[in-house]
Amino acid sequence: MKKALSILGIAGSLRRDSLNRRLVDAAAALAPDDVTIARYDALGAVPMFDEDVEAAGEPAGVRALRDAVAGLLIATPEYNQSFPAVLKNAIDWLSRGDEMLAGKPVALVGATAGRWGTRLAQAGLRQVFAATESLVMPSPMLFLAGGEALFDAQGRLRGDEHARLAHFVAAFAAWTRRYQPIVLPLPP
Ligand code: FNR
Repeated sequence: MKKALSILGIAGSLRRDSLNRRLVDAAAALAPDDVTIARYDALGAVPMFDEDVEAAGEPAGVRALRDAVAGLLIATPEYNQSFPAVLKNAIDWLSRGDEMLAGKPVALVGATAGRWGTRLAQAGLRQVFAATESLVMPSPMLFLAGGEALFDAQGRLRGDEHARLAHFVAAFAAWTRRYQPIVLPLPP
């Protein structure tokens, strides 16, 4: 049976053993019954945004990102007190054309070895998603510090962080359900 809500999980890291990729998977495992969280893994194949490239047609990697999704879950690393360039690049592409980011439910989360748990990266993303008129879930927020020690061998967050992520995912599922566009039936 097709699940009612499809959420795309994007890790803002190209690294094979990325904490944030593992975080998307941990969130997917906690999704409620009517929600799928699918991981998008092709950020590295999205070319640098260039209006000349855009004029020649949207690259395949961007088209795949544009597929109808009910919401976006972004797991961001923090690079130099901001979010990585690959994320900004993807957002810039998606902000063009059909403006699919406008009105889109978005949740921000992030993991790092740094002690502040991606607070500044997430704050930077909130500013960008204000420009795209996306609906970023205001709370709960989740900032994960601790690096490799965050996860156990099964890819589950250790200790209290597991319950915090479960609460976060449930809240985002509710946020996404709440802000789906209303499709009115056509008049006879
Ligand atoms: C970092 N890192 C980092 N961490 C942090 O908390 N604040 C920061 O400002 C930075 N700056 C920074 C710059 C650069 C260029 C790199 C490569 C790394 C550490 C970074 O968040 C950490 O390596 C994460 O594990 C990266 O995320 P993934 O790849 O594990 O998902």
